[in-house]
Amino acid sequence: MAEVEAIGQLRSWRRQQREEGRRVGFVPTMGALHEGHLALVDRARDLSDRVVMSVFVNPLQFGPGEDFTRYPRNLDRDRALAEDRGVDLLFVPTVEALYPEGADTRVVPGTTADRWEGAVRAGHFAGVLTVVAKLFNLVQPDVAVFGQKDIQQVTLVRRMVDDLDFPLRLVVAPTVRDPDGLALSSRNVYLDPPSRAQALGLSRALAAAEQAFADGETNPAALEGRIRAILAGFPGLKPDYIAIIDPERLEAVAAVVPGTIVALAARVGATRLIDNTILGAH
Ligand code: PAJ
Repeated sequence: MAEVEAIGQLRSWRRQQREEGRRVGFVPTMGALHEGHLALVDRARDLSDRVVMSVFVNPLQFGPGEDFTRYPRNLDRDRALAEDRGVDLLFVPTVEALYPEGADTRVVPGTTADRWEGAVRAGHFAGVLTVVAKLFNLVQPDVAVFGQKDIQQVTLVRRMVDDLDFPLRLVVAPTVRDPDGLALSSRNVYLDPPSRAQALGLSRALAAAEQAFADGETNPAALEGRIRAILAGFPGLKPDYIAIIDPERLEAVAAVVPGTIVALAARVGATRLIDNTILGAH
């Protein structure tokens, strides 16, 4: 596995791949890698000849009270995991390289960014789309793989790819979970055992929503009631939102159909967790 920090080196590597006719797959991450990230690498491998992974904790997407400084960082571990999984090029730019003195331009997301995560995390998606646009321009991937875990993020990235004509294929990979159902997340390291037990409420509530839908429930209010009933059994989990929404604009639906998304956000202590499911997809 090659590793580059400098933009110039990345560009010359990319040029060479193009000259040799290789398809490049790309997995952007903020590091603290887990099996969810590595499953994206597997998907990128299947769809391309060379896989680039970026590890960059993007300051632009963290709000003032958020965990930018304490976000888990361990490049040695990430390097070993990425290499083991067959990443060909690890791109680890510095903050100064991506945002040099004077950098001032931002991607403005559409109104879908104002809801759900965006309502709680002002500016978050502008920060995400700005760095993703930059990374797309630098890596120039044929295929980019994102996780369903961050469903609003990938919905907004898809919108940006379409609206700004990025010449790439966007692929969404399913959420990887621990055997007990907890969605893998770099932030799970913040959870002590009692908090982790409470965090299971999210996947349990989603499973109940899937079951209710499979049993014929199409009323969003009734579905929300089922979700609340499960969450009530996890008193340490403080729900932020229960979103029963369409996959395009992420607006609340009047009737639940196959493809309707159920997205949840909740806090356990100081840790904010998100999870979602696409109904009828299993
Ligand atoms: P990060 O949280 O590191 O996630 C990188 C990618 O891994 C995202 O596409 C995310 O959806 C995916 N992912 C995270 N947990 C997953 C899981 N349990 N199963 C499957 N995929 C999972 O998302 C970001 O970084 C950043 O916002 C980024 C896109 C890199 C821009 O800074």
